[in-house]
Parts: sequence; structure tokens; C-alpha cells
Amino acid sequence: MFLSQTQAFPIVVLFFFCSAFLFLFVLRTERWHPETPADLQQEFQSSPEFEWEDRREKTKKASSLDLQSLAPLTATRHPLEVVYSKDYNFLINEPDKCQKRNPFLVLLVVTKPQDFVERQAIRHTWGNESLVAGVSILRLFLTGVHPVFGSQLQNLLEEESSTHKDIIQQDFLDTYNNLTLKTLMGMEWISKFCPNATYVIKADADIFLNVNYTVSQLLQPHQSPKKAYMTGYIYRNAKPFRSKAYKWYVPWEVYPNDTYPPYCAGPGYVFSGDLAQKIYQVAHTIRVINMEDVFMGICLYELGISVTDSPWGLFNMDKISYEKCKFSKLVFVHHFGPQELLQIWPDFQDQKKICKN
Ligand SMILES: *[C@@H]1O[C@H](CO)[C@@H](O)[C@H](O)[C@H]1NC(C)=O
Ligand SMILES: *[C@@H]1O[C@H](CO)[C@@H](O)[C@H](O)[C@H]1NC(C)=O
Ligand SMILES: *[C@@H]1O[C@H](CO)[C@@H](O)[C@H](O)[C@H]1NC(C)=O
Ligand SMILES: *[C@@H]1O[C@H](CO)[C@@H](O)[C@H](O)[C@H]1NC(C)=O
Ligand SMILES: *[C@@H]1O[C@H](CO)[C@@H](O)[C@H](O)[C@H]1NC(C)=O
Repeated sequence: MFLSQTQAFPIVVLFFFCSAFLFLFVLRTERWHPETPADLQQEFQSSPEFEWEDRREKTKKASSLDLQSLAPLTATRHPLEVVYSKDYNFLINEPDKCQKRNPFLVLLVVTKPQDFVERQAIRHTWGNESLVAGVSILRLFLTGVHPVFGSQLQNLLEEESSTHKDIIQQDFLDTYNNLTLKTLMGMEWISKFCPNATYVIKADADIFLNVNYTVSQLLQPHQSPKKAYMTGYIYRNAKPFRSKAYKWYVPWEVYPNDTYPPYCAGPGYVFSGDLAQKIYQVAHTIRVINMEDVFMGICLYELGISVTDSPWGLFNMDKISYEKCKFSKLVFVHHFGPQELLQIWPDFQDQKKICKN
């Protein structure tokens, strides 16, 4: 094994939670079966990716909470419509990170609370803040609250946070359909605590990211900083998936138009720091949808800002097998797990292997 002791501990924890999660999932589906009304049951079966509360559970909760404020919402809101009427609260925050520095690049890395192994691998690979000599880089992992094991995971998260000081968390449920809230938390954090960041990357945890290339070739610290800039793998004229069978299902009630505005694919997009506040502000004024990358495109559209094309081949949505010289001339490659990242990293960093231009 190439994992050190500090990495082995999270794996044990992860394994425990995986088993417990599976067990609970089986329990829950069994319990749901006879109880749910036919329509809900069908929705659940055709789209296991979607997690929302049973309507009766909601009503039950509403009666014990504030009925008046919840009643109209439960009546009109589609379960996939993201609730962003107010800010969520930070449970874990790093408010002072930018007090004494103006980072050239902030890495906002999207993780789930239980992704201990992923975070550790990223810290030791592309998330290393001292990777590019002379350039200030700041790494932050974004997370919400686990829908089942929120309180059990909280102590572990807080411990990890006090060791590494690189986690922020808000009090929304960390589910696939709440991913937009995670991105918006990042935008809020930049707006409030780090408006002096020159550039930001929103990255998923399952990518290989070449920070050195992104900084030195794409962003170029010696040029005057770009404003109102966002780039990545750009989708144009994409249509919403209207079938519940898809992970990317977006119902009419949540987004009525036939096409999305141009947007940068979720695994990794780069933008200028000034956009964070603009997006954060406009997000409060429009309907928030469950696809975080599309939603960024909608915000830019509302702001009258266009995405910027980058040379072809820098942002790779499909997996490419590792080759040092190929990987040294791109921004990201999708579908890299923590083990694989740790495996390729020594070779990728090997200064003795020179790549020709
Ligand atoms: C960066 O911005 C924050 C928040 O506005 C401010 O408190 C901090 O002093 C700034 N940092 C520097 C180094 O200017
Ligand atoms: C980060 O990179 C620096 C410089 O290459 C290296 O000295 C350090 O050990 C790395 N840190 C981690 C956690 O890998
Ligand atoms: C998103 O988070 C909010 C706040 O925790 C929660 O009420 C809602 O059910 C979550 N939505 C989904 C689709 O998980
Ligand atoms: C980073 O990029 C620069 C410019 O492309 C290159 O000269 C340098 O060798 C790279 N550094 C590393 C550690 O890969
Ligand atoms: C959706 O369509 C309406 C009506 O054509 C238009 O006014 C609006 O700007 C469109 N919104 C987006 C995000 O494309």
C-alpha cells in the first residue's frame, strides 16, 4: 500500500460509513414501499438519484414548526426547486484567510462531508497551495450536512478542519440536488471574506487539475487581471433533460425555457474574482435550479456577461489515460479518483522528465 497512516484512518471511517449507509438505504426503501402513495412511489423508483421528503413528513414537520411560512411553499414548490430565499449559516468557516494576502487563485473544491480520502489526496496532489512558486494559491473544500449522518460526521469534520483549516460548511443538506447551494456558498465566501482573489476555480473532487498550467498559461499572473471572465468546457444550446430517468432531470416548473444559456461544465470552471459577488447577488433575485453549472450560466445571462472560449482540449470531460507530457498541457481531466491521483502525482511532478513543446 502507498497510503500512509494518516490516510488509512479516513479509509476505515469511510468504510464504516459506507456500510452503515448501505444498510440504512436498504432499510429505507423497504420501509417506503407499502407506505408511499402510488405516484410518489413511482417517482422514487424511476429516479433513485432524487432525494426529497415524503410530502406527509413535510406536513407533519410544518405543523410543529411555522405553519404559515411553510404552507404556501409546500403547495407550490417543486421538490427539485432549490431553496435560496435567504443565506444559509456557516457551521465551519475560515473568515480570516484573506486578511493578510490577496490570493491569485482560490481553489473551491466541492466535496461531500464523508469525502475524507478525496480531500486528503487533493491536499497532497493538485490542491497543494505551494505548487506554483511565487503565486499565492488558496485551497478550500466546500461541504454541506450529510442527510443521514450529519451529527455523527460533524466531529470528524471539525477535527479535520482544525488540522487543515481548509474546509467551509453551511447548514444545508448535502445532496446531489443541492449542489447549487454549495457553489453559491463558495460565491458568498469569496464575496464576503476574499473579494481580493484575482481568480477562482470551482473544481469537483474527481478530477485531475493542472494548477501550474492554469496559472502560467491560461491566467498569466504578469498580465493585467481579466474581469467578468469565466471559461471552461462550454456547452451551448443545451436542452434541459425532461425525463425523470436522468440524473440531470430538470422539470418545467423549475426551468421553463427550451434551452439553457451557454455555461461551463461543472467539473472545473475558472472565473475572475469579481464575478463571485455579482453571481452571489443575482442568485438571490432569480429562481435557483438544481444543476449548479447551468445555474452559473443563467446567472451570467442575467448579468449580461458571456462565457469566454478557451483553446480546445484544455478542459477534458472524458477520461484520458495519464501521460505526463499530455497532462502538462491541459487544465483538467475528469474522472480521477484519489488513489489514481496519488499514483500519478510523483511522475507528474518529476522535474527530470522534460516535455518538448
Ligand atoms: C482582502 O479583503 C478582505 C475583505 O474585504 C480584507 O479584510 C483584507 O484586508 C483584504 N486583504 C488584503 C491583503 O488587502
Ligand atoms: C507541497 O509542495 C511543496 C513544494 O513542492 C512540497 O515541499 C510539500 O511537501 C507539498 N505538500 C504536500 C502536502 O504534499
Ligand atoms: C436542500 O437543503 C435544504 C436545507 O437543508 C433542505 O431543506 C432541502 O430538502 C434540500 N433539498 C434537497 C433536494 O435535498
Ligand atoms: C510550471 O509551468 C511553467 C511554465 O509552463 C514551467 O516552466 C514549469 O516547469 C512548470 N512547473 C512545474 C512544477 O511543473
Ligand atoms: C427564457 O425565455 C424567456 C421568454 O422567451 C426570456 O425572456 C428569458 O430571457 C429566457 N431566460 C433564459 C435564462 O434564457
